[in-house]
Amino acid sequence: MSPATEKDHPVTDVKSAPAHVLAARAGDPGWWRQAVVYQIYPRSFADGNGDGIGDLAGIISRVDHLAELGVDAVWMSPFYPSALADGGYDVDDYRDVDPRIGTLDQFDVLVEALHVRGIRLIIDLVPNHSSDRHEWFQAALAAKAGSPERDRFIFRDGLGENGELPPSDWRSLFGGPAWTRVPDGQWYLHIFAKEQPDWNWANPEVHADFLRTLAFWGDRGVDGFRVDVANALTKRLPEVLPSQADLGDETLYAVGDHWLWDRDDVHDIYAEWRALFDRYDPPLMAVAEAWVPAERRVRYADAAGLGQAFNFDLLRADWDPEQFRTIVSDNLALAEPSGSSTTWVFSNHDVVRHATRYGLAGGGDGNDWLLSRGTEPVEDRDLGARRSRAVTLLALALPGSTYVYQGEELGLPEVATIPDEARQDVVFFRKGGIEMGRDGCRVPLPWSEHGTSFGFGPNGAHLPQPAWFAEYAADVQEKSPDSTLHFYRRALSLRRRLQTTGTLEWLTTDSTVVAFRRPNGWVSMTNFGTEPTVLPEGEPLFASGPLTDGNLLPPDTTVWLRAVVQVSA
Ligand code: NOJ
Ligand code: CA
Repeated sequence: MSPATEKDHPVTDVKSAPAHVLAARAGDPGWWRQAVVYQIYPRSFADGNGDGIGDLAGIISRVDHLAELGVDAVWMSPFYPSALADGGYDVDDYRDVDPRIGTLDQFDVLVEALHVRGIRLIIDLVPNHSSDRHEWFQAALAAKAGSPERDRFIFRDGLGENGELPPSDWRSLFGGPAWTRVPDGQWYLHIFAKEQPDWNWANPEVHADFLRTLAFWGDRGVDGFRVDVANALTKRLPEVLPSQADLGDETLYAVGDHWLWDRDDVHDIYAEWRALFDRYDPPLMAVAEAWVPAERRVRYADAAGLGQAFNFDLLRADWDPEQFRTIVSDNLALAEPSGSSTTWVFSNHDVVRHATRYGLAGGGDGNDWLLSRGTEPVEDRDLGARRSRAVTLLALALPGSTYVYQGEELGLPEVATIPDEARQDVVFFRKGGIEMGRDGCRVPLPWSEHGTSFGFGPNGAHLPQPAWFAEYAADVQEKSPDSTLHFYRRALSLRRRLQTTGTLEWLTTDSTVVAFRRPNGWVSMTNFGTEPTVLPEGEPLFASGPLTDGNLLPPDTTVWLRAVVQVSA
């Protein structure tokens, strides 16, 4: 990373921060606990300068969309300089903005534009790996084996007579080998693409530099961080490395003292970061992306560490009321001891959009969150729309924080039919075109019915948009009171008014129904069955679709009510 430059100003003297930062920080330190957070994938949100790539100018031009939607915060995926080997999760410089996306000055304008509208900003931090263009990796390549420069990454000699074989048979998560050879014969580890060398977190310089990065953005006014692959940073790499078979197939779910994943000592790093977060008033927040089993998630969510962790359980659940009940109960029970709050997610930039998943044959099977060639979805778009609205309303009534992925508020389906030659995702290429990768949920958003890129920008879009995007365009939905966009706006505004602390009690109902009540009498009821079901007593406030005869809840629908009588759990 660059030596001290004017970009590296010291940790904030809070009083000298701009007024909007002070105002945002004057609020509730627990603002994130029940926040609705909107994820922006910057390259696909809005293009301000017409080069086909979404940028900060585009986002700034659309902040009113976010304010009208009523979100509490934005999480922005990587916007750093990057060759885009992995959509920006290959970071060349952690303390700058990609010139194709904007400038640091524009970043400041964006922070202010959000803050004055009462919206917080969480940015993506990628601490497991950098990019192979990062200044320190370039220095490592230029230096000798055994040098301090190489020690910031994970370099090894190869096996075989001349070191021509990789140090182990490990596979990268994106397919292909996890080691790549450099010209002098050594190999470096990358658990993702070869352009994403893993940092060596046993090296104190790496610790110090990430602390500098966190302070750099904290001082610029960001309110928190989403931490990429938070369960991978520390590694145990003995002289003789285990084989891929030793690592196990389900490497992401390995626990405790595993070589690569979810090691207990990763939490020492987060304790270090927490000390920095707590120097801000209120403290910066952080949310861990850690695909670990529920009982291991608690440590990532601990107040002594990152403080919150994604829970992808509903994202992976089938359309099954029993699974929904169990997942909600388990996660609420787990959130309590960690002192955190639960998170609910149905879509993000890594999985098939849930408007499509819930419309597939079977109505949304937990295994449909990646697409393989030959299994392009046959969707029932109406079913997908009904079910995704229903689960959204269910999740928004739960205690905890809900993460909404850009386009979800338009009910946007996955774009499954991208020609091979237009695809960008490294997963598609490293897996030999068998897994279709994640481009289908990253297609630039349709803002208007007309225009070369449906209003994404003045010209084209970096991934092809299908003709049917027109009917999902924001300006079309604006005109239709029953649109998904209006549905999200009403749901978020009502949620804000109904919000309460505390947990929930389950209501006794038919087994095909998921119904619960919050302490202030806010009831949510979802019909997962095939027959209409009778509403409990209470005043219906809002529903994800029309109610039948006023007092029946149709299948694939959620209703919110205000209970008039105490209903026993
Ligand atoms: C998780 C991110 O969400 C994904 O997009 C990325 O490819 C991997 N981490 C590697 O950074
Ligand atoms: Ca642009």
